[in-house]
Amino acid sequence: MSSEFLPVQRFSDSRPADILAEPITRLDAIEADAFVLFLTVGGARTGVIADIDKATGGIITRIVSSGEITGKRYECVPILAPPGLKVGQLILIGIGNREEVDAGTLYLAAATASRHLAARRRAKVVFMADGAWTTRQIEQAVAGAAVGMVGQDLYRADKKRTRFGQTTWVNAPVEAVEHGAIIADGVNLARRLINMAPDDLYPQTFTEEAAMIAGRTGVEIEIWDEERLMREHCHAILAVAKGSSRAPRLVILRHRGLGPADAAPDIALVGKGVTFDSGGLSLKPSDSMLTMKLDMSGGAAMLAAIATIAALKLPMNIVAAIGMVENMTGPAAYKLGDVITARSGTTIEVHNTDAEGRLVLADVLDVVRGLNPKHIIDAATLTGACVVALGNDVAGLFTNNQEWCDKVAAAARAVGEQVWQLPMYAEYDEQIKGEIADIKNVGDGRWGGAITAAKFLERFVGGIPWIHIDIAGPAFAEKPKPWTDGGGTGSMVRAIVELVRGPA
Ligand code: BES
Ligand code: MN
Ligand code: ZN
Repeated sequence: MSSEFLPVQRFSDSRPADILAEPITRLDAIEADAFVLFLTVGGARTGVIADIDKATGGIITRIVSSGEITGKRYECVPILAPPGLKVGQLILIGIGNREEVDAGTLYLAAATASRHLAARRRAKVVFMADGAWTTRQIEQAVAGAAVGMVGQDLYRADKKRTRFGQTTWVNAPVEAVEHGAIIADGVNLARRLINMAPDDLYPQTFTEEAAMIAGRTGVEIEIWDEERLMREHCHAILAVAKGSSRAPRLVILRHRGLGPADAAPDIALVGKGVTFDSGGLSLKPSDSMLTMKLDMSGGAAMLAAIATIAALKLPMNIVAAIGMVENMTGPAAYKLGDVITARSGTTIEVHNTDAEGRLVLADVLDVVRGLNPKHIIDAATLTGACVVALGNDVAGLFTNNQEWCDKVAAAARAVGEQVWQLPMYAEYDEQIKGEIADIKNVGDGRWGGAITAAKFLERFVGGIPWIHIDIAGPAFAEKPKPWTDGGGTGSMVRAIVELVRGPA
């Protein structure tokens, strides 16, 4: 079954018709402020680049032979007022060796060109796809171009990036451009929510954003407030929320893309939505606390993913469940030594109030387990230990089902999201045994902390094929990179959408 013939719908804060496919006429008829060309190493004399080189009287081959650009990944070189064309400038963006060009490279390359151009106002920017690219590759390039022009400007009077008035793609199928624009809406939505200040985005306001997005995409939404969480025995979520003046929420979203309304979900998406993580009474030092608005990135990714899946009208039943809390130190804050009875009935000793994410997820995982999904994925900025293990750019994978993990990993890699699996040996279970209750919320000592956290989560999935994605590193870029101003990255939105679409 294909969604190719159904109309698709943008849902982020984009304007309609700002990203379009443009049928190719003649190169010298294209009018734009900038014309972006993707260049492979040694590729100046092939394909469309050769045509443009000819139209400009050989300007590209001259610049390549001068060594100004070689085609290496993410080199970005403008050529102002190129002769023979009606464009203000050409932008050459390197994408590396021809054999190694993949969707992830094109996403970052397009974002790099866009970010560069978005430093000024541009009425129209034209991107040229390559006839050799697959549809999925074109989609990712289109998405990257739409993500790269959005900066971290939510609170800046003097914006650093301005979205193009219009982006057009030549040499690209209309559907690929539409799909790419929708995928970008998903990524940009997650980024915006992550970048919002924690006093603006807290459990209540996150649910308002979720309700608005659900309305635009036709996703069903159910919101559990404090009272409902109480009735549902979600005592782990409630415990974490106790130190905050903001009440917790559980957001449940449903996309029914296939089959009867009461069919079990094919996939349950679970997100950690800690809108600010002070550490609670196990208070974080100031430096580690500074970026802790990012701690709802898993939740933002799952909201964005299900919205994108719905906007693309993908034929699968998906449920997303996001646990929203603020982890604070108020007078009622949960304490070290507290024993919590989670929704599943498992009792948990609190040894560290900064290990709050796994407590929130314990209850959310139990809620989705009750819906009998065929598969579960959770995404969470769960542990600093995962960043120690894998660095800032790679997400950690943990699973109870290798086949499911392989599928998710393949989807992530297909769109250039870097992931690496860590082991789940039974020995790690020893470390989370409780002194006086069933389990405790930290391991013995800090070694292997990403794995003991995953082992804790495993207790709540009831044997359903499950993968946990620790995005503590890739969710947030503390420094700018050629393709982003930094801040929330939208980590795992593209991976999950790709997973639900299945291999091309
Ligand atoms: N939200 C943090 C994890 C985190 C750290 C995310 C750095 C992004 C960047 C999480 O709630 C946390 O505080 N984890 C503790 C666990 C520890 C107390 C067992 C950690 O990683 O130190
Ligand atoms: Mn924490
Ligand atoms: Zn946290």
